[in-house]
Amino acid sequence: MPEHTKVMGKEWADARRAANVARLGETLAAALAGRTDITFELGCGHGHWLAAYAAAHPDEFCVGIDLITHRVERSVRKQTLGKLNNVIFLKAEATEFLEALPTDVVLRKIFILYPDPWPKKKHHKNRFIQPASLDLLARRAAAGARLHFRTDDADYFEWTRAHLAEHAAWNLRADTTWPFEQTTFFEERMKDKRDLEAERVP
Ligand SMILES: C[S@@+](CC[C@H](N)C(=O)[O-])C[C@H]1O[C@@H](n2cnc3c(N)ncnc32)[C@H](O)[C@@H]1O
Repeated sequence: MPEHTKVMGKEWADARRAANVARLGETLAAALAGRTDITFELGCGHGHWLAAYAAAHPDEFCVGIDLITHRVERSVRKQTLGKLNNVIFLKAEATEFLEALPTDVVLRKIFILYPDPWPKKKHHKNRFIQPASLDLLARRAAAGARLHFRTDDADYFEWTRAHLAEHAAWNLRADTTWPFEQTTFFEERMKDKRDLEAERVP
């Protein structure tokens, strides 16, 4: 690809990202006005888990995001049908969401269920769990916030365990308690579960 095409491609991608962050920032400022913390699900898929969690935890305000429009639409339908006023679902990319989150709102609980495992070694760079994304989550998390991670994939489990164990801002807990059971769309198909829990170092 010619160099000037690459430069234009990067400029376009940067501009699109900045526009997404600005738009999300406006949405979040309105939706989270007066709130100081949230329960966050990254990659909420069809919203089964977070809609049920929100119904069972009326004192928490929950935000679920996903990249895929029709999954977010299904999630919103669950929120509407359940008349849930303590959860919102947004179409958003995780790093853009974390950048757009108002600075006076912190993540109190973070859930990542059945993230894409990207099993081939050459694709591991696409896994969400990386030192940079753990940095970003840590910057927006409250002291003592919990990160709960669940996967069926043995390799991604080990990858995440190692990345959390090495990261200075996260304290990997030996005792893992999954706080709320509700079968997700992908869990239904995978059947297996491996859980990790980490605490944001105060
Ligand atoms: C394998 S699905 C699991 C969905 C759901 N948690 C479940 O268990 O049914 C992973 C989801 O994460 C979403 N996702 C992947 N990377 C993401 C990112 N960077 N930001 C937001 N969502 C993301 C995908 O669109 C997909 O819906």
